[in-house]
Amino acid sequence: MYYESQNRVVKHLVNRLRDVNTDSFNFRMALEELTRLMVAEAFAQLPTKPTTIDTWQGPLDVERIDESALVFIPILRAGEPMLAGILKALPNARSGFIAMKRDEATAKAVFYYENIPDLQGKTAILLDPMVATGGSLIDSITFIKSKQPQAIYSINIIGAHTGVELVNQTHPDIHLHIAQIDPKLNAQQFIIPGLGDAGDRAFFTPPNDN
Ligand code: PRP
Repeated sequence: MYYESQNRVVKHLVNRLRDVNTDSFNFRMALEELTRLMVAEAFAQLPTKPTTIDTWQGPLDVERIDESALVFIPILRAGEPMLAGILKALPNARSGFIAMKRDEATAKAVFYYENIPDLQGKTAILLDPMVATGGSLIDSITFIKSKQPQAIYSINIIGAHTGVELVNQTHPDIHLHIAQIDPKLNAQQFIIPGLGDAGDRAFFTPPNDN
């Protein structure tokens, strides 16, 4: 299943990403903030654990998210600022890494690195700003499923309608939360209107320089 955010602060920050005058630093900061907002939306119904904390008034029984049961997994490169953002809010969560690079000639994703902690009984949360054809996310979810987590979430910022639908058809059992669904892809499989190449914009890489 997938959900597109209707939150106006989320849409405001998406527009900051779309603006070509947003420099790399502010692009990464907007990605960090968007990730915190999107995770907050996605985790609204997440089960909690009763726990007791010490407050200025003495012990207090509260409900807490079990951060140690969460594994955030950015798809590098462009997912890295998303991980930095969410670890500021949930610093005791675990992290794993997947690296994929889209072959610009074939528009197919190529998998080149992974480092994933034990996911048994955990909630895995994939982080990638872009869902274009959906190929990278579909392959990443298939790989994560082989590690048998208890649940899989995907937090994404901008997706093409066709790519998001394809991910949903292929993996209907995951929870995909996306800030913005855009209408289409162009001939080079870039999201239109989109925001350009998220990795290049986040890491100040001129076109044709990577
Ligand atoms: C982008 C993006 C996704 C992928 C989406 O990464 O961050 O991972 O492309 O395309 P798809 O849905 O058609 O698979 P890119 O390959 O540009 O790598 P980068 O993050 O290193 O810039």
